[in-house]
Amino acid sequence: MKRVVVFTGAGVSAESGISTFRDSGGLWEKYDISEVATPEAFARNPKLVIDFYNARRKQVLEAKPNDAHKALVRLEEKFNVQIITQNIDDLHERAGSKNVMHLHGEIRKVRSTRFPELVYELKSAEQQYDAVCERGFPLRPHIVWFGEMVPMMELAVEHVSAADLFIIIGTSLEVYPAASLIHYAGSLIPTFYIDPNARPIDKLTNVSIITEKAGTGVPALVEHLLKTK
Ligand code: OAD
Repeated sequence: MKRVVVFTGAGVSAESGISTFRDSGGLWEKYDISEVATPEAFARNPKLVIDFYNARRKQVLEAKPNDAHKALVRLEEKFNVQIITQNIDDLHERAGSKNVMHLHGEIRKVRSTRFPELVYELKSAEQQYDAVCERGFPLRPHIVWFGEMVPMMELAVEHVSAADLFIIIGTSLEVYPAASLIHYAGSLIPTFYIDPNARPIDKLTNVSIITEKAGTGVPALVEHLLKTK
């Protein structure tokens, strides 16, 4: 089976009602990254950071997978599909995609501030301010903050390097190292970039740009790929 790697960003979940970051009205227009999404912010004011992610979690729990998430599941009928998402929501999983890697963490999980391997699924929408891990240390959102390493990056590079086909959906490609993944795809493999604001990518000449919303662009591309395989 041919290997398809799908690299998604906030745009794939936009039509599910989850805010993107850098569009007009996006999250980073309303919040200051340095106040809510860095280890220093958490050290300074953990309650503010926990409140911020509690609000994100509530939005995710109210959202449902859209036609883009669902279409990507159908790709598995004929391809070996690996999704690599920058999103912290679980909409790819809830749609039914089997292989989903979260580069920037998962909003429905928290982890120990002292023992990062102690990761817990939250039972409710809210992380309590005083919750601790089984060894007594405070919990933090299971999120990769600005200034932190991206632990899944190496594995993600391996997947992209081995892909036969690469699809990029709904990302501004502004955040590194995640955005650098696109340069590991073979320069000759078919590559598609679906985003209403997609622009040609420097040095990548094999990219078909589809300036459509994910909810229509992804199902159309999936139908096309299933037919022409
Ligand atoms: P951005 O907010 O930077 O970009 C969202 C992209 O989605 C833009 O290119 C939009 O054009 C596109 N878009 C908007 N609506 C869309 C739709 N209906 N269909 C398809 N595309 C649409 O979000 P990301 O690129 O995901 O990291 O941001 C990357 C990282 O920056 C995030 O993972 C997050 C953020 O800070 C962390 O928090 C660590």
